[in-house]
Amino acid sequence: MKLFLDTANYPQIKELSQTAIIDGVTTNPSLMAKEGIEGKENWIKHYTAICALAVGPVSAEVIALDYKGMLEEAYELASLHKNIVVKIPMTKNGIKVIYELATKGIKTNCTLIFTAAQALLAAKAGATYVSPFIGRLEDINEDGLGLIKSIRSIYDQFHFETQILAASIRNQNHIVRCAELGADVVTAPYSILVKMFDHPLTTKGLEQFLADHKRLNG
Ligand code: E4P
Repeated sequence: MKLFLDTANYPQIKELSQTAIIDGVTTNPSLMAKEGIEGKENWIKHYTAICALAVGPVSAEVIALDYKGMLEEAYELASLHKNIVVKIPMTKNGIKVIYELATKGIKTNCTLIFTAAQALLAAKAGATYVSPFIGRLEDINEDGLGLIKSIRSIYDQFHFETQILAASIRNQNHIVRCAELGADVVTAPYSILVKMFDHPLTTKGLEQFLADHKRLNG
């Protein structure tokens, strides 16, 4: 299973790009706003800088909601770098745009997926990735992990090549459960990814090993 970093924060992407644990990056307009990246020119510069870190696929989201506007933005984003994956919201226009981009070989990530029915439509349109939002479903007491299971079963049954990119991750258990359920990719915030290195018994065990070594060897 691949691990993507869910952020638009350049220092975080740069740091983790050097650890070999991340295979890609996902951004969205809220994450770009959080970094204070304002205006089209700056967005383009930012995506280009992230791609230059060679972190694998980088999802960049369109803002327009109409078919023509979305398509224009998608072509512009895709032309920035070969690693750009155009993120398109799950709407009727979005599905049409994904279909059109698929015929041109442009990679897409269909975002804001909350039902298996939506994931089925995105796969039929030829999306490269679908992004089911686990955490936001759990926030409203719905079964986010159950959604991953359901999409996996549908895609396997009909041999869809669309990859399941589990998003809206709130904890490490989400990552592990998504791996067990067969998600192709999980995208998680920096704060959660870096916690994957740690366990109190790892820290304690290491301290003990070093203390024992020092006792005998000085
Ligand atoms: C990633 O592609 C999604 O936009 C992101 O994971 C959403 O996460 P959130 O629900 O924590 O905002």
